[in-house]
Formats: sequence, structure tokens, C-alpha cells
Amino acid sequence: MDSILVRGNGPLNGDIEIAGAKNACLALMPATLLSDEPLTLTNAPRLSDIKTMTALLASLGAEVTALQDGKVQAMSCHGEINPVADYEIVRKMRASNLVLGPLLARLGHAVVSLPGGCAIGARPMDLHTTALEALGAEISLKDGYLHAKAAGGLKGAVHKMRFPSVGATENFVMAASLAKGTSVLENAAREPEIVDLCDCLNKMGAQIEGAGTSRIEIQGVDRLHGATHPVVTDRIELGTFMLAPAICGGEVTCLGGKLSLVESFVAKLEEAGISVEENARGLTVSRKGDRVKAVDVTTEPFPGFPTDLQAQMMALLCTAEGTSVLEETIFENRFMHAPELIRMGADIEVHGGHAKVHGVEKLKGAPVMATDLRASVSLILAGLAAEGETVVSRVYHLDRGYEFIEKKLSGIGAQIERIQS
Ligand code: UD1
Repeated sequence: MDSILVRGNGPLNGDIEIAGAKNACLALMPATLLSDEPLTLTNAPRLSDIKTMTALLASLGAEVTALQDGKVQAMSCHGEINPVADYEIVRKMRASNLVLGPLLARLGHAVVSLPGGCAIGARPMDLHTTALEALGAEISLKDGYLHAKAAGGLKGAVHKMRFPSVGATENFVMAASLAKGTSVLENAAREPEIVDLCDCLNKMGAQIEGAGTSRIEIQGVDRLHGATHPVVTDRIELGTFMLAPAICGGEVTCLGGKLSLVESFVAKLEEAGISVEENARGLTVSRKGDRVKAVDVTTEPFPGFPTDLQAQMMALLCTAEGTSVLEETIFENRFMHAPELIRMGADIEVHGGHAKVHGVEKLKGAPVMATDLRASVSLILAGLAAEGETVVSRVYHLDRGYEFIEKKLSGIGAQIERIQS
């Protein structure tokens, strides 16, 4: 298993390119199941999760071709479709559950393995199944698989979710696009990735209004056609790389970054004493002072502070002046980076969903272990701010969500290299 070696760094300066969003791409790719015409996604990120979704779609009968070094995903689903999403692929990645809605809408039936839990929490599927049941699907669980069918086809309905789940919103919107009549989803998730999916579906001929608000209305259509769509910028990669100069000092422009994608995150950076400026090239981030100030952070659904940036923000706050309190409200077990940061000299107390971070002047390099995707990158950021060397092992988590991270960070002056084993 590869590991990543990071040496404590001085200021970082320069430009860094931000990729297309992993989470948007993972929802856009299954949309190909809704049409027999080609769907082409440009600005796709080059990540192992995208390869996993490619393998899953191929197992269902879609043709997926990666073009231009993987930046373009050309997909077509004109042949026979297999309705069974196998456990062997689904268990690798929870986002595999996003084929459930499209398969059901296109075929009237689907058999999709439950993904199982993951390191950050139990992550059940009840919000997905109740949303699809509202559209007339009958869903039962057998041998670890969800068996879904809609004998007379899906029918439009009004449904209110008890929590604005991102994945359940995506499954509902894709399924309702081919349902008979009008559907309304209340308390829908408002993430930019939902807006991106709905924009793409509308290009394919769907009639969706209200994406980005908590009420999405979908007028079902008989069929969807092909389209070409650029994947929205990855706001989590953007936020992660904005933290690099915040932690090390210097001035970095995140190319293609937009304030509207990361407003609540930027508000916290500014409170900590980091300057962020939007310009024609992207977002320019600089830290002028010596140490940042402590800030309190609570994760929330969009437009609140993203749970996917909580671990990286904690890495920054480890060396802040004062005590910060981080509250995690989305996932029950998302502080696994804390014990690793403590090994690097951080002073953190975790009590349930809260973590108290008492800022120390300097972190110290140490061998640490990545436990999940965002935790791994938080350890890399912490390593850049530490004295000496940090070796982050189990970096396969990292490759799920960050393309060419060593190349990108060394491009702004970081001392980082991959150790292949
Ligand atoms: C998506 C993102 C993930 C991000 C998360 C929250 C993708 C591929 N992944 O995940 O990176 O961390 O949003 O912003 O887009 N829940 C239920 N029942 C359900 C579904 C979810 O109780 O049926 C709970 C989950 O356990 C979790 C919360 O709802 O506590 C949020 O989950 P959800 O918004 O569904 O996240 P994902 O779509 O899985």
C-alpha cells in the first residue's frame, strides 16, 4: 500500500487547478441509465471512485469510455440493461446506490445491493427507499439486496424528506424525471451537486425546477435524450486546497474557484484571519499574520459548513490561538482524524459529536494512518504545517477523492512525495 511523505513547509505560493466535483460526477454518471442516447460529461475528475462507478455501470450494460486522459466520460446505454447492482462492486462505494432510482425509472424494476456501513457512520438507505416508495415503488430487502419494482411505472407524488439527504434527493429527482405526472420533493438537499445534476437532466429533456432550493418540482417526461455537460467545480477539493496557504502561509489562487460554492466555509476562514478574494481566475487565499484565531464550526447541510471539510478545518485549528469547538451533526463517527492529529502534538478532546481543539504553537511530524478520504487529506495538511516529516499510510482513501494531489501541492511549493510499496 502506498504512503505519502510530507515535510513541514514554509509558505506556499502559486496557482492550483481545481477538478470537477467527484460527488457531482458520481450522480451524473448513473443518469446515463435514463436514456438510450449518449451522455457525455466533460471536466470529469480522474479518481478511483469514478473508475468504480464506471465498473458498476458497465456491469449494468452501459458503455463507458474515458477520453482525453479520463477528463471526459462518454457513456451510452442503448443495449439491454441488467437490473442487478452486485454487492462486490456496491460495497466498495456507497454512491453506487445512485443507480437505484434510474434503473427503477427506466426498467420498472431494480435489485441493488445495500452498501453496508462505512468508517464515518452507519449510513442507512431509508430516505432513498421511502422517497422512491412515494413514487409508487414497492421495495423489499432480501439477502442484503433491495428489490424494487414499480409494476405500472412510477407515478408523480409529493414527498417530504425528514432530512435533506443528498443521495436520496438525487435518486428521487432521477426517478421522478421519467415518472407519470408531477412530483414535488420537499426538504430536498440544496447542494451544488444537486443543481448540477438537475441542469444536466434538463439538458437531457427533463423538466425540473427549484434545484438549489428545498422544494424541487419535476414534471415527468416520456423519455430523455442525450446531452453533453461539464461537471461543476469540486467545492470540497477547492476548500481543501484553500486551507493549504491558510495553514502554511503564502498566497495561492485556486483556479476556477467560486465564492458561491464555499460561502459558509469562507466565512469561517475569514473569522480565523485568512483573506479570501474572488477574481476572474478563481479564489485567492492568503494568510498574512503569524497564527490564525480559534473559531467554532458546526457542520450542516448546504449552505451550512460542509461535513466533508470538517477534518481539514480541524487541521488548521490545531495551531490556532485559543480553543475551537467543532460540532459534527451529519455523521456520527467523523472525528477519526483526531487521534492521528494528537499523535502529531495536537491538543484535542472528543466528546461524542463535539471536538474541542486547544491550539498549540507547532505540530510535529509523525507516522499517521488515514482512516477515510477527508481524514487522510487533513493529515497531509497538518503535515505541511508540522516540524519534520509526516508519513501518511493507507492513502488509497486519498486516491478516491483527490487527483494528482502530490503534483498539485508540489506545484505551489509543498514538499510532498508518494512512497510506492
Ligand atoms: C453525500 C456525499 C458525501 C457527504 C454527504 C453529506 C456523495 C457521493 N457523497 O453523501 O461526501 O459527506 O453527502 O454532505 O455525494 N441518511 C439516513 N438515511 C438515508 C440516507 C442518509 O439516515 O437513507 C443519513 C446519513 O446516515 C447521514 C446523513 O443522512 O447521517 C447525510 O447523508 P446523505 O446526505 O444521504 O449523504 P450521502 O448522499 O450518502
